[in-house]
Amino acid sequence: MSDSGVKTDEKKQHFDDIYVAEDPVPFKERILDELQYVSDNFNRQTFDRLILDWAQQQAGSGPVNLVDLAGCFGNTTMACVNGMDYEGIRENWKNADAAKQVNQARRFDAKVTGIDISQNALAYGKSAGVYDETIDADLNAPDADKQARLDQAISEAQIMISTAALVYLETEAVERVLDAFAKGDGEGYLLVNFLNPFALEAADSAKHALLERFEFVGSMASRHRLMSQIERDNYPGEEWVMLEIWVLKRKQ
Ligand SMILES: C[S@@+](CC[C@H](N)C(=O)[O-])C[C@H]1O[C@@H](n2cnc3c(N)ncnc32)[C@H](O)[C@@H]1O
Repeated sequence: MSDSGVKTDEKKQHFDDIYVAEDPVPFKERILDELQYVSDNFNRQTFDRLILDWAQQQAGSGPVNLVDLAGCFGNTTMACVNGMDYEGIRENWKNADAAKQVNQARRFDAKVTGIDISQNALAYGKSAGVYDETIDADLNAPDADKQARLDQAISEAQIMISTAALVYLETEAVERVLDAFAKGDGEGYLLVNFLNPFALEAADSAKHALLERFEFVGSMASRHRLMSQIERDNYPGEEWVMLEIWVLKRKQ
């Protein structure tokens, strides 16, 4: 575990200094650019295929509550809610000035709550108009007050996205979050993804926890980003980190 509280599989590259930067420019330069972090194209594609129509219909009767769990600076919200692709997010985050405001309007009326351990990332997301509300919390060890706020925001959400994130959470933390979403009322959708080839046992246990609580809707496999040099050394012969993107819904 690093000083920032982020836990990472030791075969995976650590990026926590980037997550706690004051703006998303290092994230853009060192992850989106250097590692061709194209995963939001596929998160958006899956959101559009399986959730977007429903979200737009729901928004007819008021803002859709959406939680971006471990959302960092909000790139996956920009993809799913604002409809931005990899190139659009890179352009928006090309420098600190350009990053001040999100470039593209939301595609449906939403109230977006960003949750993360990085206060800087959340403060950026709020000031740029990516998030409406934020909760800074260590999801692996929230105190009672934070747990109550997390519980409320997650159970009131109609959509929860959590991308490149479950890998950082302990089994109990994943279960707490999923229990909170499962107890919400009415139809509700989850978009999550799993990285390959890192921490496969943790991913399997998250998948079991999801399938115990939710109905499976659909999935796809895609590229995520290039492996860093450390990762290529750890996984000889591999070049790309791969992604499985899953959508599930609340059991009615
Ligand atoms: C790879 S980023 C994910 C960003 C975005 N969802 C995506 O798919 O690109 C992982 C995020 O998890 C957050 N994180 C790591 N450990 C956490 C914890 N224990 N509690 C809350 N957030 C955590 C980090 O601060 C970081 O912003």
